[in-house]
Amino acid sequence: MSQNILITGAAGYIGGSVLAELASRRNGLIKTLNISAAVRSEEQAQSLSKLGVNVVRVDLRDEAAISEVILHNEIDIVVHTASSRDPSLITHIIKALGRRREVSGKETYFIHSSVATVFSEDGGWPFGEVRDTDPIFAKEKEIEGGHPVRETNILVTEEAKARGVTSFIIAVPVVYGRGTGEWRKVSANIPAYIRTSIAHKVVYKFDVDGHPPAVHISDLVAFYALLIEKILQKENIPKGEDGYYFVIAHRAPWWAIMQRLAEALYARGLVDEPKTQIWPSYDVAAESLGFPRVYMKAIGTSSGQLVAVNAYRLGWQPKWDEERFLDSMDDEVQSVLELDTVKPSLFDPVSTS
Ligand SMILES: NC(=O)c1ccc[n+]([C@@H]2O[C@H](COP(=O)([O-])OP(=O)(O)OC[C@H]3O[C@@H](n4cnc5c(N)ncnc54)[C@H](OP(=O)(O)O)[C@@H]3O)[C@@H](O)[C@H]2O)c1
Repeated sequence: MSQNILITGAAGYIGGSVLAELASRRNGLIKTLNISAAVRSEEQAQSLSKLGVNVVRVDLRDEAAISEVILHNEIDIVVHTASSRDPSLITHIIKALGRRREVSGKETYFIHSSVATVFSEDGGWPFGEVRDTDPIFAKEKEIEGGHPVRETNILVTEEAKARGVTSFIIAVPVVYGRGTGEWRKVSANIPAYIRTSIAHKVVYKFDVDGHPPAVHISDLVAFYALLIEKILQKENIPKGEDGYYFVIAHRAPWWAIMQRLAEALYARGLVDEPKTQIWPSYDVAAESLGFPRVYMKAIGTSSGQLVAVNAYRLGWQPKWDEERFLDSMDDEVQSVLELDTVKPSLFDPVSTS
């Protein structure tokens, strides 16, 4: 019997790219899925309608509306990419999936898109090296300080357990590359540096280098598809408290990236010199880049000792490595010049209900 899947944040960079991948699959169990895509605006709905999927307009803060979407469309699997740090959206979706399970007698699944940075020191992780096979849920609960992404991870696991929903947490690192969705096609991080460098005619780097984990959007999307395929095959894979997946292909060496960006932008006449300068301060950087000051250090200089095991055990084989990534900086510039038309909403205030 075919299953029904809902992708939230389907107008976004990651959600749109996951949607494009699932909708275009011609083999495996994924092609049997009935796909629904959740977006917020009419313009977005129209733009996605050409994909031949069921596009629903819903604000996920509206509990009754998301419950109706899940029950009416008989949704068994939700891929949540709309927010990693707004717990109320999660509660609404998981509650509805719990009700769907009661009504249908079938298992329901919640795949959460989280943030890998919270497993680095600057992201508030005090335990040093971390494998996704470690008892991460218990460790996350030990940490005080209430980071919204971490609180949301904990909520996902606890709420899903309470409602009989099977949950997975994908810890997403720095994502780069041209998205394949219909609406937002560029990522948050590197495009912000490119946009700001063009505005200042200078490429700035931080006073401290960082090497955070990274993944190309095509490899990330391939992992979501692999996980969904395993769910459809009913394979016994890590889930719930054990269901953390670090989707890490390689590192992003920031100083080397900034140097490559300086060269690429200079060659196009977009900055004044083919070399970098140090940001005058973290305040100026946050203000210029449009990132919240409180996360600026974590975003700009953190590294983290994350070790990805679970994704590779599932059979994930990323195609991009650090060298290919560094060689693609001019493509990143080109993507921003061509496609950077949608204002990011990633750091908009979260709902309080
Ligand atoms: N991109 C990265 O490098 C990266 C790295 C680590 C983690 N992540 C995490 O991955 C997730 C997706 O990232 P992304 O880059 O794809 O972000 P994105 O492009 O901003 O996509 C998020 C989408 O969710 C939608 N959305 C937000 N709140 C909503 C609500 N209340 N109701 C309905 N839709 C809502 C947004 O709608 P609008 O279009 O209307 O604003 C947007 O289309 C985020 O949680 C992010 O924290 C991303």
